[in-house]
Amino acid sequence: MADIIVALDVADPDAALALVDRIGDAVSFYKVGPTLYTLTGPGLILKLRARRKRVFLDLKFHDIPNTVAQSVAAAASLDIEFLTVHASGGSAMMRAAREAAGSNGPKLLGVTLLTSFTPGDVEEVWGKQLLSLRDDVGRLTSLAAEAGVDGVVTSVLEAESVKRRYGPEFLVVTPGIRPAGDLLGDQARTGTPADAVRAGADYLVIGRPITAAADPAGATARIRDEMASVAEATG
Ligand code: C5P
Repeated sequence: MADIIVALDVADPDAALALVDRIGDAVSFYKVGPTLYTLTGPGLILKLRARRKRVFLDLKFHDIPNTVAQSVAAAASLDIEFLTVHASGGSAMMRAAREAAGSNGPKLLGVTLLTSFTPGDVEEVWGKQLLSLRDDVGRLTSLAAEAGVDGVVTSVLEAESVKRRYGPEFLVVTPGIRPAGDLLGDQARTGTPADAVRAGADYLVIGRPITAAADPAGATARIRDEMASVAEATG
């Protein structure tokens, strides 16, 4: 059964920890991104670990192989479970990251195309006509898989085809989750919690639908109910 990772995209570390305490036992896995990591360094990770929370450090490294390898080795020395590199950094970069992460270290995930990207954004950045976004994600995913990364971060729209092609061991982590009726914000390639479970995602990364809710624990409970009803229906 898929689990939830809450994206702690809050600019104030104290507010982030207050939110974690408010959510309480409803969530055990948190994603720390560049905002909080820039402000606190490993300090916030230690505080989350002291609360027995699992940590995904989402710094989405994208640089020359040597720099990424050193960054991944530094991140792997922290008490975290997942970390990310951009698959568009290329095979050599991902292979260097894979080696630096080590075999007993955190799982290394390749970010395919940001879920805020539309086909128009991809064409603008890469200067090419796209056949389909799913094909582009497929190409980046195969680079990541060949480089030995443990899985990908991609939208719900591509999750099923990745799962079908790479099997149960290759992790699929889906951000851009929006319960029906929620605001999209800057996200473009979204899916509901039910869609993500149906597509076979292993982890749903959820930020604002939980962190900006008036009752974050209640919002989490509703999302978990939606996820469980799909899991029951599909057996
Ligand atoms: O608030 P929201 O649910 O949109 O947050 C989504 C989170 O997932 C953000 O922390 C964002 O950085 C991250 N993310 C994403 N798309 C990706 C990879 C990560 O939105 N492809």
